[in-house]
Amino acid sequence: MKGIVLAGGTATRLYPATLGISKQLLPIYNKPMVYYPISLLMLAGIRDILIISTPHDLPGFRRLLGTGASWGVQFHYAEQARPGGLAEAFIVGREFIGDDGVCLVLGDNILHGAGLAEMLQAAAARPTGCTLFGYQVTHPERYGVAEIDRAGKILSLEEKPKAPRSNLAVTGLYFYDNAVVDIAAHLAPSPRGELEITDVNLAYVARDAARLEVLGRGFAWLDTGTHDSFLDAANFVQVLERRQGVYIAALEEIAYRMGFIDAAQLAKLGDAMAMTDYGKYLQAVARGE
Ligand code: G1P
Repeated sequence: MKGIVLAGGTATRLYPATLGISKQLLPIYNKPMVYYPISLLMLAGIRDILIISTPHDLPGFRRLLGTGASWGVQFHYAEQARPGGLAEAFIVGREFIGDDGVCLVLGDNILHGAGLAEMLQAAAARPTGCTLFGYQVTHPERYGVAEIDRAGKILSLEEKPKAPRSNLAVTGLYFYDNAVVDIAAHLAPSPRGELEITDVNLAYVARDAARLEVLGRGFAWLDTGTHDSFLDAANFVQVLERRQGVYIAALEEIAYRMGFIDAAQLAKLGDAMAMTDYGKYLQAVARGE
């Protein structure tokens, strides 16, 4: 399975913080925001990852992530010239996806919780259909909203409905079989002129091939859309990391725990940042502490 991180957009809601730099390159506490969505792909076992961003911001992602070789993964890069909707990721990424299934994650989605890695690996292992993740929120009208029956079957999916039928938001993490490439290619733009991910998901619902996993209590799906929610997300990460001494979305550690690199390689990555707590943490993990 391939992975795509969509990190385009201008993040006008965060101006002036994002006037000079892409939102997804800004730090959430001690690491760039894009580490968090990448962590979800790596935890799912995905090692081939396409980063899509604007022509203006793509060089920043290249500088940050490089080839991925030192983490035992491969990063590829592609431009989305103008924002044309989330589903455009499958058009831009068509060649990259090839005949494989693909997991799309939005570059500003931060998800955390016990057992998440197992859920991600199970979704990646499903050979057909799509897997979506639902999360209860107080303001569903800001998101894609799913209505499900008692058995978890999706009854309806609506993009930012004025009168939501449930409080279950669809998170920005989606697993698809290869049919998504054709579905996206034949999609018509919505009234706001975008290729909507919700329309892709509706195509799967129509085929009875969509599945929604509800992320219940104990999971955190954090918003970073405003100055306040951005800071809240950073504080959340800081609180958990300082309290437990275990890092969230430390990609070097994940690469090691997933078996993409060995302890010696992890130690080297830690040594290069030994002046920070982050680097010292990687060194400790490499020593087996
Ligand atoms: C997008 C999707 C929406 C989804 C959300 C998750 O909305 O269109 O269905 O719930 O991401 O982050 P956006 O945040 O781009 O407006």
